[in-house]
Amino acid sequence: MADGVFGVGVASGDPLPDGVILWTRLAPKPTEGGGMPARDVPVDWQIATDESFRSVVRAGTQNAQAAYAHSVHVDVRGLDPGHDYFYRFRAGTVLSPVGRTRTAAAPGSGPQAASGQLSFALASCQDFQNGYWAAFDAIAADHPDLVVHVGDYIYEYDPDSRFPDRRHTTPRTPGLDQLQTLADYRDRYGQYKADPALQAAHRAAPWIVTWDDHEVENNYAGLVDEAGDTGARHQDPAAFARQRAAAYQAYYEHMPIRAQLNPGSPDLRIYRRLTFGSLVTFNVMDTRQYRTPVPEPAPQGIGAAALGADNTAGTMAGAEQERWLRAGLDASRTRWNIIAQQTMMAQLDGQLPAGSGQLLTNLDQNDGYRPYRRRLLSGVRDSHASNPIVLSGDLHCAWVNDLRVDFDRPETPAVAAEFVCTSISSAFFLVSDDFVRANNDRLNPHVRYFRGDRRGYTRIRITPQECRAEMRTVTDLSSRDSPVTTDAIYVVEDGIPTAQPA
Ligand SMILES: [Fe+2]
Repeated sequence: MADGVFGVGVASGDPLPDGVILWTRLAPKPTEGGGMPARDVPVDWQIATDESFRSVVRAGTQNAQAAYAHSVHVDVRGLDPGHDYFYRFRAGTVLSPVGRTRTAAAPGSGPQAASGQLSFALASCQDFQNGYWAAFDAIAADHPDLVVHVGDYIYEYDPDSRFPDRRHTTPRTPGLDQLQTLADYRDRYGQYKADPALQAAHRAAPWIVTWDDHEVENNYAGLVDEAGDTGARHQDPAAFARQRAAAYQAYYEHMPIRAQLNPGSPDLRIYRRLTFGSLVTFNVMDTRQYRTPVPEPAPQGIGAAALGADNTAGTMAGAEQERWLRAGLDASRTRWNIIAQQTMMAQLDGQLPAGSGQLLTNLDQNDGYRPYRRRLLSGVRDSHASNPIVLSGDLHCAWVNDLRVDFDRPETPAVAAEFVCTSISSAFFLVSDDFVRANNDRLNPHVRYFRGDRRGYTRIRITPQECRAEMRTVTDLSSRDSPVTTDAIYVVEDGIPTAQPA
């Protein structure tokens, strides 16, 4: 086995009280099809309570299957709750790097019994071409219990970067202006996952991941893809279904995720629920696969806010997932209840130029599906789930918001707080921060914090008493060693659904 056979690192994810997914992929040539022979290869794995593997508690052998790009997903069980573990793989005589993981706390007896704490990083949007990932080194240095990633793990675009070593791989089919085939998606994941900072963040903690649009194609909705900038037409749904099947398979192959892949199918259920003792439940959503089309296709998704308000038949989650979320909130027994999803939940209306008549919005966000959002937030309120918090990404800028059922009635009570993380590296393309703040003061009074000019992540710590969020910002995106500092801290106290500056 070649020395670089673990060239895309190791990872763990979807922690349970007694188990966790361990992941790796054998790929000595990660951007050139992987570089493995076209046969299955046995991979040994070990999980231990100590970093030097004197106390191995579980071990086994699993085939890295050629049909799945020689990826390995081990669903380890029989572990102790709320414990740190260390894991590694071996292919032939080559040992992988060692990863640290952690199981969830034991199931609790109800919110009154909440104890302990959970620290995690909230991350999204890591356009490789736009800069370096000091944010991931900072996440690794935090030693969190968990990393929660809400999408845009890769970008599907063509090579175009001012950094010579950050140019995207080229699609192998001549003439394509983005990823479309399984081979192309795999190479792109190979490129991203070869990055040492991303590998360090995966080695540091288990991840809970969900996808947004760029894991397949910008702003897709269900089986409706993006029309090209130059007036190109949508693909027919059958062609886009093939692309989505390839993209979803490559996602599965590269993520430490507990999911049932059906190769060749454009469907893959990844929405799921993970619980950490009596303290916190994560409802992890998928708002791409089952969503109805945007009310009106538009450049960058921008259109009239009224179109979103009138989208009564629209849904971002699909009827089944909407029911699943509500049932989970109704049944929850934890002190905190997180809804981790993709695009910003809070209403964001704007006017260009300021003071002009028509209200504009981003129809690709929840704003394009306002009756759906009202159903979801009414359900959050009516479920009486304790301390709901919405986590989001997608916008490449950081926000803290009050969420209300009717954003146009600011006198009504908030039902939940929302934290939107800025991007790990993707560009914030909108107008200046001052313009956004002035616009928010006029039109979006539920916004408590906004910053658009910095990349980074949100560091969150949950205890029975509070949910504390630190907005972490990268000083210099063009340096792998950039400092990462805290720009602001907001705290949600138990029983009060708004965030206050600490
Ligand atoms: Fe993004």
